[in-house]
Amino acid sequence: MFSTKVDPVMHTYNRFPLTLVKGKGSFVWDDKGQEYLDYTSGIATCNLGHAPEFVKGQVEEQLQELWHCSNLFEIPSQIKLAEKLVQNSCGDQVFFCNSGAEANEAAIKIARRYAQKVKGTESFEIVTFSSSFHGRTLATLAATGQEKIQQGFAPLMPGFRYLPYNDSEALSSLVKPNTCAVLLEVIQGEGGVIPANPEWLKKVASLCEEHDILLMIDEIQTGMGRTGSLFAYQQYGIEPDVISLAKGLGSGIPIGAIIAKEKVAAAFEPGSHGSTFGGNPVATTAGLATITYMVDNDIAYKAEQMGEYLVSKLELLQNKYDQIDTIRGKGLLVGIVVKGNAIDYVTKAREEHNLLILVAGPNVVRILPPLTTTQVEMDQFLFSFEAILKQMGN
Ligand SMILES: Cc1ncc(COP(=O)(O)O)c(C=O)c1O
Repeated sequence: MFSTKVDPVMHTYNRFPLTLVKGKGSFVWDDKGQEYLDYTSGIATCNLGHAPEFVKGQVEEQLQELWHCSNLFEIPSQIKLAEKLVQNSCGDQVFFCNSGAEANEAAIKIARRYAQKVKGTESFEIVTFSSSFHGRTLATLAATGQEKIQQGFAPLMPGFRYLPYNDSEALSSLVKPNTCAVLLEVIQGEGGVIPANPEWLKKVASLCEEHDILLMIDEIQTGMGRTGSLFAYQQYGIEPDVISLAKGLGSGIPIGAIIAKEKVAAAFEPGSHGSTFGGNPVATTAGLATITYMVDNDIAYKAEQMGEYLVSKLELLQNKYDQIDTIRGKGLLVGIVVKGNAIDYVTKAREEHNLLILVAGPNVVRILPPLTTTQVEMDQFLFSFEAILKQMGN
């Protein structure tokens, strides 16, 4: 009996027909040697560009020493990275894991345990918002306010309630007797690059404070300088109790984390949470080098400046071409709401202009340049994007 061989990799992605084999700075190369301007940054992960020298050097040194040891031992780079994260945020203590979904899992677990162990209540419910995205594990897809992500995985994990995003009236039902936390993105990335209304967000924060409900901010896409500050919440005058991180934290080496206020962190004790790889020497060395370079070189400020330049130029294109409906986002997390299908712009960019960009929903083109991108590269992007707009107008 012969069986027909199927693709050895499960079909969980509709991949672009492109094989990338090399990356440096803002550029990547395919297996035929063709160069592309990469304004996807591995979906907001390679924030310092591909293979940044400082991170590479530190990781290479660590690879000469120790690759892995369990969390039963002290890990110096883990302690130093935790110190840096705490110094540069409103949090006090860090838990390390390996991905964004795991970071949000940790946030969900710590919120429930904080309510039950520290506050001494039975409350467990976490409020999240429509169009949010928090990950693909059973808990984080239940937290995600998008039915398409949840389809086929019933029964969903209980304990989540969804409210409309940016809707101040709906906040009257935010607090229920069993509510223990709110989890939200201050700019919804996957949901279409939708920034929170500052007044609405302040109202959420003050309701949380008033009712001792944890404010948990998912900074997995918005964090690590992407929006013009190290963390996006810092532009909104709020102080989260828990911050979840991943993507840009390791410059492409897998790492996730939550940073929590001391009173919340006290809910975890030996045995309540853990991860074999979480905070591993190589991953935390990459994280430490990344944040050190970012802070020392004020990369977030550079992202803010370059983001302003990008948006000002896009606004000129908007005046010229009907195809651009709206431009939104912050720093270098920019969404362009277009007429027609966003994927057609992305395909044209790749096939005809050697430019990699993304979608965020059916009609939003998402631009995620490395935060280190230069004005020359940005002008190259703008030149190509204008050519695409012209083509799409016909
Ligand atoms: C805001 C947000 N949260 C969580 C996640 C999940 O992260 P990961 O894919 O590393 O599990 C993502 C990934 O896109 C994200 O953008």
